Amino acid sequence: MEYTHKKATSMGDKIAYALVKFFRFFADTFFQKRYGNRAIVLETVAAVPGMVGAALLHFRCLRKIRNDEGWIKKLLDEADNERIHLMTFINIAKPNWFERFIVFIAQALFVILYLVMYIVSSRVAHRFVGYLEEEAVVSYIHYLAEIDAGRIVNCAAPQIAKDYWKLPDNATLRDVVIVVCKDEENHRDVNHYLADQFAQGKNILKKLTPIK
Ligand SMILES: [Fe+2]
Ligand SMILES: [Fe+2]
Repeated sequence: MEYTHKKATSMGDKIAYALVKFFRFFADTFFQKRYGNRAIVLETVAAVPGMVGAALLHFRCLRKIRNDEGWIKKLLDEADNERIHLMTFINIAKPNWFERFIVFIAQALFVILYLVMYIVSSRVAHRFVGYLEEEAVVSYIHYLAEIDAGRIVNCAAPQIAKDYWKLPDNATLRDVVIVVCKDEENHRDVNHYLADQFAQGKNILKKLTPIK
């Protein structure tokens, strides 16, 4: 588990970073150290960009009559992976009615925000997700520190997590947080990579090596 930060250089990057920091402030204030509940609410948001990006890329491929070179599936896999994070943490913490209400409102707003962002600038949209994932890594590192300090019970891993990540039968919450954090590191790197490609004016539909 490793926190890395990509320096914001262009104006678009700085806007993306400022937006993420703005959202982080509210998440920190609201959830504080309730990491399980924090994970549930934030994963419902994190699962949006991959699906929106994949849908828009799909339409772009149809319009331009081009191959997607594996990127649609890559983005869909990201959304799917985030949904599994959500289904894992719902076995660990229970959201109250107000958190469920926030999930409802956040999805309505975030889908629209991300859709507009992706249409206006796919580069800024992927950079935004890259920064969002940087913050997700920080949150999971803090979560792990709380478990290691004994302030959060290191309960048994939920079955869904053992099946999905092929964890041993005696796996614990600590093991789950580590594999989830690794997923977030991967999302962070993929989205920063895509933003870099767009920044260089590369068309991801035809110039990149197809993703395996
Ligand atoms: Fe996630
Ligand atoms: Fe993620």
